Amino acid sequence: MPAKQKFYLTTPIYYTNGLPHIGHTYTTVVADVIRRYKRMRGYEVVMTTGTDEHGVNVERAAKKAGVPESEFVAKMAEAWRALWLELGIPADEFVRTTDLQHVRTVQWLFKLCRENGYVYKGHYTGQYCIYDNAFVNDAKPGDNCPDCGRPTETLTEENYFFKLSAFQKPLLDFYKKYPEFIQPESRKNEIVSFVESGLKDLSITRTTIRWGIPVPGEEPHVFYVWFDALTAYLSAVGGPDYEKRGMWPADLHLVGKDIIRFHTVYWPAFLMAAMLPIPKQVWAHGWFLMDASKMSKSKGNVVLPRPIADMLGMDALRYFLLREVVFGQDGNFSYDALLTRYNSDLANGLGNLASRTAAMIEKNFAGKIPKAGKLEPRDETLARQTQSAIGDVLDYFEKMNFARALESLWSVIATADKYLTTEKPWSLSDSEADTQRKATVLATTAELLRIVTVLAHPVLPDSTTKIWTLLGQSGSVSAVELDGLQWGQLASGVPLGKPQTLFPRVEKSEAIERIESMANEELNPTAPPAPAPTAGRSATAGAATAAAPAASEKIGIEDFAKVEMRVGQIKTAERIVGADKLLKLTVDIGTEIRQICAGIAQFYEPDSLIGRKVAVVTNLAPRKLRGVESNGMIIAASVGPEGRPVLAGFPEDVEIGARLK
Ligand code: MSP
Repeated sequence: MPAKQKFYLTTPIYYTNGLPHIGHTYTTVVADVIRRYKRMRGYEVVMTTGTDEHGVNVERAAKKAGVPESEFVAKMAEAWRALWLELGIPADEFVRTTDLQHVRTVQWLFKLCRENGYVYKGHYTGQYCIYDNAFVNDAKPGDNCPDCGRPTETLTEENYFFKLSAFQKPLLDFYKKYPEFIQPESRKNEIVSFVESGLKDLSITRTTIRWGIPVPGEEPHVFYVWFDALTAYLSAVGGPDYEKRGMWPADLHLVGKDIIRFHTVYWPAFLMAAMLPIPKQVWAHGWFLMDASKMSKSKGNVVLPRPIADMLGMDALRYFLLREVVFGQDGNFSYDALLTRYNSDLANGLGNLASRTAAMIEKNFAGKIPKAGKLEPRDETLARQTQSAIGDVLDYFEKMNFARALESLWSVIATADKYLTTEKPWSLSDSEADTQRKATVLATTAELLRIVTVLAHPVLPDSTTKIWTLLGQSGSVSAVELDGLQWGQLASGVPLGKPQTLFPRVEKSEAIERIESMANEELNPTAPPAPAPTAGRSATAGAATAAAPAASEKIGIEDFAKVEMRVGQIKTAERIVGADKLLKLTVDIGTEIRQICAGIAQFYEPDSLIGRKVAVVTNLAPRKLRGVESNGMIIAASVGPEGRPVLAGFPEDVEIGARLK
């Protein structure tokens, strides 16, 4: 068998002075979609992301946090890595610019550029902020520091310079020879005119920054952050030994429009100077804006990915990000638009088509995919439309036009809905002719659904995996080869799998309120929550469990008396969408009925709790858990290493509302 063709793609490596918002999530999601898509087209794919950990901003943030820089960045890098994993978009290679392998690669690249005559020592003059100890890029004499607002001073320092000016012609020739290098086209013109207007040599070391990769034998010089950061793409796949891994040059760098110049001018110039292969393509996407401005923590307008994923599932966020905005353009983020898409396209669209098709097959054909009988022209039209959508969708994926790919797929879903409404298989009788017709209609719909499922898989990996199971298909949907996908491959007689929860409908305003409340909890963590019975994501749960006795301080009876506990009776119990571990209970505590959330969903079935008497802490301040108000706490023991909650109860009959003393 011929070796697979390789595909190496990257996201930018993210700064560690903050945590990911949906702008960063956008790039990483797109990278993951392309990775899955390329794998389904038979490529061996490596996707890299990572953290950009050097520079003066990190120096400052670490100082503010009162920890050494290395400790600060290690924690932040871990948080980024963990979030990508939690969101189901971990990279194949996670590169940190403090990794030894990366440090060696940067030093090696510098050495090659220097040996080839493209590096010289010179003097850099710029505006410097003596309070922040940093040069202020693009500032003129008389300008104030944008960070602290104080006046800057003109300062000259000794630097190593990179002869960027020598690459004006080679770069312009390169753009001409490889017209696909800069995408989208509109960005290319911007870069070409920038290079045509002349390139100044670039200072690539600093002596005023401490937290950076040292230039060997030239301390206190450290590398300029972009010389350091860009090289991460190469260090992630072998660094100086890149040939062994066989992934370099990168096939695709995904970047935001703000950093395209670094990737399409500096980066290829560094590589040309070192005589190393140059990446094949840089694709610049636009920004997700909040109220028409770029998200930033200081403006307080960031949207976090986790609350959305918790409430609606990660597939919903992925779908929204890719469908709402044409890749390459800016777009606005709004919760309202997100929920509208969720309810209309996912819950009522794909989710509904899958569930009703399965339910009708279950009811009419004992849960086995029927065999189509004689085809009517209407069935053939549907088949033809779906078959031609396969080509369109693959073509849009190739062009990175995800919005159009999804639009095409959803128009196939709409056609199927119309087809069912016209054919009305539910109104057909049990006569032989009608049963035949029912079989044809349902087999046709199921085949359409199978094709949509395969094509949507790169964007909706979790839900399409569920639909695949529901359709009783063997193997994994991710293993289906897109190149061989065509109408007519659905095997009949196959039993359907278990029913699956796909996209439960949500009430828009309640969902938005809960997402915002979860985001608020995440952005402004309050005092540590009560001990949680299970190791949940945010370790919050409204059931208190007894911790192992510690060498704790003794408290007086007056302290204990501050806690009011009463006997309560559970009236209702239900699961909470987006919070696997929590149950929402209503509890009668004698004087009133309270809503309380308890982190016991993995150990207690809601129905088994109705009528049960429990011990309730009744004078706790109300708080929101996963966006749901909880007004009290149920007492439970914490058992075993996994902290299984066991509800405290009363072997004798007790009156509801009785105080525990
Ligand atoms: N560390 C540099 C990149 C070095 S790559 C060798 C950096 N980091 S960043 O964390 O500030 O930004 C990383 C990426 O996130 C950029 O491509 C940027 O465009 C993108 N985004 C940040 N906010 C964004 C939005 N609101 N919307 C979409 N993408 C945005 O730059």
